[in-house]
Amino acid sequence: MLTLTNVQIMYDRAIEAVRDVSLTVDGGRIVALLGSNGAGKSTLLKAISNVLYPEEGEVLHGEIALDGRNLLTMSADAIVASGIVQVPEGRRLFPLMTVEENLTMGGFLKSRGDVSADLDRVYAMFPRLKERRNSTAGYLSGGEQQMAAIGRALLARPKLLMLDEPSLGLAPQIIDQIFETIVALNRDEEMSILLVEQNASLALQIAHYGYIVENGRVVLDGPAERIAGNEDVKEFYLGFSEAGARKNYREVKHYKRRKRWLS
Ligand SMILES: Nc1ncnc2c1ncn2[C@@H]1O[C@H](COP(=O)(O)OP(=O)(O)OP(=O)(O)O)[C@@H](O)[C@H]1O
Ligand SMILES: [Mg+2]
Repeated sequence: MLTLTNVQIMYDRAIEAVRDVSLTVDGGRIVALLGSNGAGKSTLLKAISNVLYPEEGEVLHGEIALDGRNLLTMSADAIVASGIVQVPEGRRLFPLMTVEENLTMGGFLKSRGDVSADLDRVYAMFPRLKERRNSTAGYLSGGEQQMAAIGRALLARPKLLMLDEPSLGLAPQIIDQIFETIVALNRDEEMSILLVEQNASLALQIAHYGYIVENGRVVLDGPAERIAGNEDVKEFYLGFSEAGARKNYREVKHYKRRKRWLS
């Protein structure tokens, strides 16, 4: 479905944020894209949505395609219309608009009847949003904002939903609810999901396949169970030592491990 082939991305023609990334999201799959801060994850999602230009970012090399259609030459609106919709990092709601106005913005390409039906669907999924439908988005809690951001994306009826760190800063209970929603969308509507997460443990629990990106390169990929079972991943991203005990990040022999990975 979605394929990235040898993608290189630079900002300001000077900073190489993504060196060489190839990845695939097959139809109906949940794919986790993991990696530490600055690895290039958000940059990749922005490239897929073709919204790098306001930040002086540019895909200099490689291909991004949806079912063989080149996305690099399509406008951001056309990419949304083709079914790829993103829930950006930090949620990016319109803070002065109400919840319902934010949700409605997601359906900007749809007819009024469709929007009204889809609003009901989102309210059924997140009853809390219905209670807050007339509240100003800027005053919502972090969890409510994440729900509203996901709801807004759903109004565009995505075939592929891309989520950039949906769990960030949220309480465990809310994270569970968000992740259950993601699983349900995938299972019940066969929606494909590309999930960027710092919370590797959670992401790998729901994903079918995973990629680990470091310094703009894929350093590991495979079925989620295999990634979760990898000793390096356990130490770096899952916080477990080989004995299975919780381990302080700082105790990890970073250098040695990283080297083994790249060799
Ligand atoms: N607008 C920008 N201009 C210049 N450099 C940028 C810009 N955005 C990101 N970068 C750089 O590109 C690299 C990748 O950043 P990116 O935001 O894609 O990382 P990330 O994997 O999403 O990290 P995080 O987990 O912290 O969100 C980093 O080195 C970052 O400093
Ligand atoms: Mg990011």
